[in-house]
Amino acid sequence: MIVVIDGPAGSGKSSTARAVAERLKIQYLDSGALYRVATLIYLQADRNREVFIDLLKESKISFYFKQKKFHVFLDNIDVSEDIRSMKVSDAVSEVATMPDIRSYINQLMREQVKKDIYIADGRDLGTAVFTDAAMKFFMVADLNDRAERRFRELSQKGIETSLEEVKANIAGRDQVDSSREADPLKQAEDAILINTSGLTFEEQVTQISNQVKKLITEHKH
Ligand code: DC
Repeated sequence: MIVVIDGPAGSGKSSTARAVAERLKIQYLDSGALYRVATLIYLQADRNREVFIDLLKESKISFYFKQKKFHVFLDNIDVSEDIRSMKVSDAVSEVATMPDIRSYINQLMREQVKKDIYIADGRDLGTAVFTDAAMKFFMVADLNDRAERRFRELSQKGIETSLEEVKANIAGRDQVDSSREADPLKQAEDAILINTSGLTFEEQVTQISNQVKKLITEHKH
């Protein structure tokens, strides 16, 4: 069973989904992290598409959720920190426009979620990857709130950047993610809209947890 949260960068989807997973003891899948790993390979290939595809085919991408953290591995090396660099953030939307890469990542995700109960976050999970998800949320927030939140996260991790740089990166990604041809960021018709601008983190986690908990209970009976 899978529950999905889609929304623009910095809207709080991944921290919320992680907290919900932790609270309800279910699995968490960060689809953006998989696009970021692919982007690491793209950068290794010096942005050459053909070299990139060859390298991707030879690479092994694996991941799991443990102790509140989503871990991603490239050829068994933990790259969970490397994928958060601004270099990767600046190139990831470009990689995410490539339809063959999208199908590759979608396949990886569909295989993984067959066995357990998952909450996953991304851009197109409700509209393209898991159209029959048990429950769908679409999370939005003002650009300023999103930039400030992402800036705080990066600063805490010791990644050097400025609020302006983060804001420009988020606004640029919103633009590319929403206007690309292949599965753009868009609210699914059957998704529940959550605007986090006026909510505390605890409120948004509780709102979603309560609904997912009910669903899991029904699913088990
Ligand atoms: O959630 P994030 O910021 O880590 O995602 C990184 C990028 O990956 C984002 O700018 C767009 C892309 N992405 C996507 O196209 N589809 C998804 N399901 C998840 C992420």
